[in-house]
Amino acid sequence: MKVEAQYKPILITGANSGIGRKTLEMLVDKGHFVYAGARKEKDIEELNKLPNTLAIKLDVTNDEQIKQAIKTIHKEDRGLYGLVNNAGIAEVGPIITSSMNMILDLFNVNVFGVHRMTLATFPLLIKSQGRIVNISSISGVLTSGYLGLYSMSKHALEAYSDALIQAVESFDMHVSLIEPGNFQSNIGKNMIERMRKEEEDYRVNMTAARRKQLFKEAEIGFSAYDRYPEPFKVTEAIFDALFSKKPKPRYLVGGNEEEVKRVIKRMFVELLQLNSKHEFSFNRERLIELMDDLLTENNS
Ligand SMILES: NC(=O)c1ccc[n+]([C@@H]2O[C@H](COP(=O)([O-])OP(=O)(O)OC[C@H]3O[C@@H](n4cnc5c(N)ncnc54)[C@H](OP(=O)(O)O)[C@@H]3O)[C@@H](O)[C@H]2O)c1
Repeated sequence: MKVEAQYKPILITGANSGIGRKTLEMLVDKGHFVYAGARKEKDIEELNKLPNTLAIKLDVTNDEQIKQAIKTIHKEDRGLYGLVNNAGIAEVGPIITSSMNMILDLFNVNVFGVHRMTLATFPLLIKSQGRIVNISSISGVLTSGYLGLYSMSKHALEAYSDALIQAVESFDMHVSLIEPGNFQSNIGKNMIERMRKEEEDYRVNMTAARRKQLFKEAEIGFSAYDRYPEPFKVTEAIFDALFSKKPKPRYLVGGNEEEVKRVIKRMFVELLQLNSKHEFSFNRERLIELMDDLLTENNS
């Protein structure tokens, strides 16, 4: 197996668009080799024009395509150092209007897709004592009624990654979560496109008029994505997770200070809810003592 010290081979899912595409550009600029997962032929063709890039047809819900992707990586004989589980989709609407089909489709990409990719690449990653980077979101901590299903999937990814961190410890591998706020990408446009093609049973408990209104709200809401910052801070965090000697388990990447504040505040709210009025509740002094101990542990 040709493993050259100056570059590392990395597989990115959903590498044709948004955060995945910017991550690909950042990595190849630095001389690394990228297996760029994409679903559409035109994207594969375009990605193959980039240096240090081999585009692979890869839908993370398709077992056969995943098998073929791993075959290609073996054939290339470069090994695999990193997996960036980036592919993801969003859905909007009150949770009570999400049909089972919608939930299963969303989890199939955002959660089960990550597990499929992790299972398939694990033998290669053990060999290289490599890295897995899972792209979560501030929605892995925050839950909005409007983005409830998406929040559910990212919360699941948080638990998944925490479990994975423990599972890979003995293999000298590292797993990190990236938790971006709002950054420029096609996630909104892609969702609107899917909404246009929605089957009748995709949303339930919803009148045609409410459906139309939701569609309008989504169009307005997601048009803001063009005004968000480009995701360079996100790609920097992904780089650190891939290459730092001591990668962090979580990288919170706010687009602005307000997003960071909302996440930290939410963690405190949950802590206070869990600690509220039971026989083992901690008082203020014990909470501060616990926080001080954890800060010391974290800085050592
Ligand atoms: N942008 C943000 O503000 C933000 C914030 C927090 C978290 N995130 C997360 O960042 C990740 C990337 O999203 P993005 O914002 O960059 O959105 P994006 O521009 O829509 O990119 C999503 C990528 O995922 C791919 N994808 C969708 N379904 C797939 C499937 N079944 N198999 C393989 N690939 C699939 C898309 O491919 P196609 O082009 O073929 O559809 C596209 O390449 C997602 O996990 C998202 O949840 C984004």
